[in-house]
Amino acid sequence: MSDAATLNFQGKSIELPTFVGSENEVAVDIQELRNKTGMITFDDGYGNTGSCLSSITYIDGDAGILRYRGYPIEQLAEESTFVETAYLIVFGELPSAAELQRFRGQLTAHQFLHENLRHHYDGFPPNAHPMAILSAMINAASCFQPALMKLDDDESFTSQAARLMSQVRTIAAASYKKSIGEPMMYPRSDLRYTANFLHLLFSKPYAEYDPDPDVVRALDQIFILHADHEQNCSTSTVRMVGSSQANLWASVSAGVCALWGPLHGGANQAVIEMLTEIHKSGVKPEEFIARVKAKDSKARLMGFGHRVYKNFDPRAKILKAACDKVLNKLGVHDPLLDIAKKLEETALRDDYFVERKLYPNVDFYSGIIMRAIGIPLNMFTVLFAIGRIPGWIANWREVHLNPKARIYRPRQIYTGPTKRDYLPIGKRAT
Ligand code: CMC
Repeated sequence: MSDAATLNFQGKSIELPTFVGSENEVAVDIQELRNKTGMITFDDGYGNTGSCLSSITYIDGDAGILRYRGYPIEQLAEESTFVETAYLIVFGELPSAAELQRFRGQLTAHQFLHENLRHHYDGFPPNAHPMAILSAMINAASCFQPALMKLDDDESFTSQAARLMSQVRTIAAASYKKSIGEPMMYPRSDLRYTANFLHLLFSKPYAEYDPDPDVVRALDQIFILHADHEQNCSTSTVRMVGSSQANLWASVSAGVCALWGPLHGGANQAVIEMLTEIHKSGVKPEEFIARVKAKDSKARLMGFGHRVYKNFDPRAKILKAACDKVLNKLGVHDPLLDIAKKLEETALRDDYFVERKLYPNVDFYSGIIMRAIGIPLNMFTVLFAIGRIPGWIANWREVHLNPKARIYRPRQIYTGPTKRDYLPIGKRAT
């Protein structure tokens, strides 16, 4: 506990406790504010609200710092694998060799969907968005898992975490195969997580896809960079749903829907659509930036700006470098990369972006890598979701294990009509 903060209002003075997080972030505890004063706080969009205590991910948006369980994102992106990072995020520590092997074994053991689930795909039209399919299929898959309603011991939680992580990948790839009319592939037990995903996407019966190790590594790195990001819209959704004691899969399915929007995970698709449009129309980057600034349309520079990062997004920095590496390795020249770089350069020199502290975020360059690998555009946000699964699981568990957990239930400031009496329809104005 540190010093209390004092709030003076209408001649009264109220003391509010403060406390400090492990990275010295100071918070005013307003939980007793309403009891003591009748007042509530107002923070539209939760821009300055700490909604929970969490020991998973630390972000310092002014310094461009992101750490999972204390480990810098740069080190994990360089040295770790997605499965190891997922283990770290979900269980709190880097695994020993034996723990990692066991977790890998569980991912493999749980990778198959129940055969009946294959028929569920027939109910979707061929052009259904894979994010809609993913959310629906996560819930559908949960129906085959009665055990998940009770995840109180470590053993069953670990098993369900591995099952969810593994099956989300199988579900996602199957939705793509269905959309292009190809047979769904079965996962392979001899492949690691990310290579297996590429196999599920790109292999065909009797024609195995043989991925370039650099491509596998690039995608693995994308998953690592997306694995958690503290209280963003989708993770807060998962916690919100989980706080009602809804099960893990239902909560994650809701998280997928929250992620879908273009201001959140959907931005990776929106960035490529924007760059394609600029390329096709021949608009100069300077003209496009001027259009965004004019605000006469709702156009935004997609992949730019962040609620928390006000300096740079460390994930974007890593991805920009990865972009050059992967495209070089694959011998791909993508004109969209040239446009993206020009847009970034123009924006970062422009007062509008400088004053508002708008920098490229994780979605600005990730899509160009995915395109080069051959991932279809409407699967981009699905890949974000696959990467984010460990973060959602860890956040759900924090809520689930918190002995003081209460259902999440913000208040509001009502601004509608005050009390009025019901008028029968015949007496209302025509
Ligand atoms: N292009 C142009 N102007 C922008 C942009 C942008 N990308 N982002 C913010 N602004 C302006 C905004 O118009 C506002 O200007 P003014 O003060 O004149 O009204 C100011 O900057 C503050 O913006 P805001 O909307 O209040 O900021 P926010 O913290 O509520 O929104 C954001 C954050 C990420 C939703 C927003 O920056 C945005 O819409 N970016 C584009 C979409 C995007 O790339 N989203 C991915 C986010 S990172 C990954 C993820 O979380 O999924």
